[in-house]
Amino acid sequence: MPAVHAFDTFLQERAIPVRLSEPLAPYTTMKVGGPADFFVEPRSPEDLAATFLAARECDVSVRILGSGANLLIRDEGVRGAVVRLTHLKRREGLHVEAGYNFARLVHETAAEGLSGLECLAGIPAQVGGAIRMNAGGRHGETAAAVNYVDVMTPDGVLRRLSREEVGFRYRGTALGDAVVVAAGFDLRPGEGIRERYEEVLTQKKYSQPLGTHNAGCMFKNPPGGHAGRIIDQCGLKGMRVGNAHVSERHANFIENDGGATAADILRLVEQIQSRAPVPLELEVLVW
Ligand code: EPU
Repeated sequence: MPAVHAFDTFLQERAIPVRLSEPLAPYTTMKVGGPADFFVEPRSPEDLAATFLAARECDVSVRILGSGANLLIRDEGVRGAVVRLTHLKRREGLHVEAGYNFARLVHETAAEGLSGLECLAGIPAQVGGAIRMNAGGRHGETAAAVNYVDVMTPDGVLRRLSREEVGFRYRGTALGDAVVVAAGFDLRPGEGIRERYEEVLTQKKYSQPLGTHNAGCMFKNPPGGHAGRIIDQCGLKGMRVGNAHVSERHANFIENDGGATAADILRLVEQIQSRAPVPLELEVLVW
């Protein structure tokens, strides 16, 4: 029996939810991309460990999908397994599992008068993805509010890392192959937290094309500059390839008008990079 089928059989025998050739576009905010060979939704950390071990045994690659908000999936899709931590979504106080909706957590903790996350209002993500990418913007970053992160290494072992051990950097961490399964946040009661939350959200609604199909900022800000301002100054707002175009509202966003392909978007990315006066590095992950 080919190893990949052994992988599928292994998961099914353990009642770990798995689907074959699952289209991934609906799981991303950009709404593009082909299917995953295997789409796995472990019910528990034990299921996740079993998935890792089976993948290793059967030589199947594993990628973790969060809310697909910072991700461009190629039209050919993804070979191997895509794992979504849909069922790991408990919140117990400030201990929160990776599949929990991050925007909801930010909203809830602001409503509870707890300070630390309110500057991240409106960022679409799961908790695991927000940690992994150190999501943030001009008002702050996720790292600042993290106490510890529980990860699982590809050999299925759980470890608790301190904030320092996570190795947070601009839009990234030093986690490597380790997968975030939960995090503990360090939030303190504060004054005017709800108001601050509303203020950040209002600014975001005004300056970003929320409600359209996009993956947030496409490029990292280059040292000392803003990719959005640079692209805008090059006069590229509205530039189009196929059904994808540079947002008129914020030039660091690319919008899918419906029916755009990943190839359209990647061609637009290349055109922007070739016209920008400084190197622009993708912030969005490409699978
Ligand atoms: N600007 C323009 N034209 C544009 C867009 C922006 O001139 O089309 C100017 C703005 O007027 C402003 C400056 O560029 O003076 C910076 O813009 P903004 O405040 O929107 O911040 P940003 O650096 O473009 C960062 C994050 C965003 C985050 C915002 C707000 C990065 C790459 N981007 O954007 O994050 O929402 O701050 O906190 O770090 C994301 O990571 O996906 C993302 C959207």
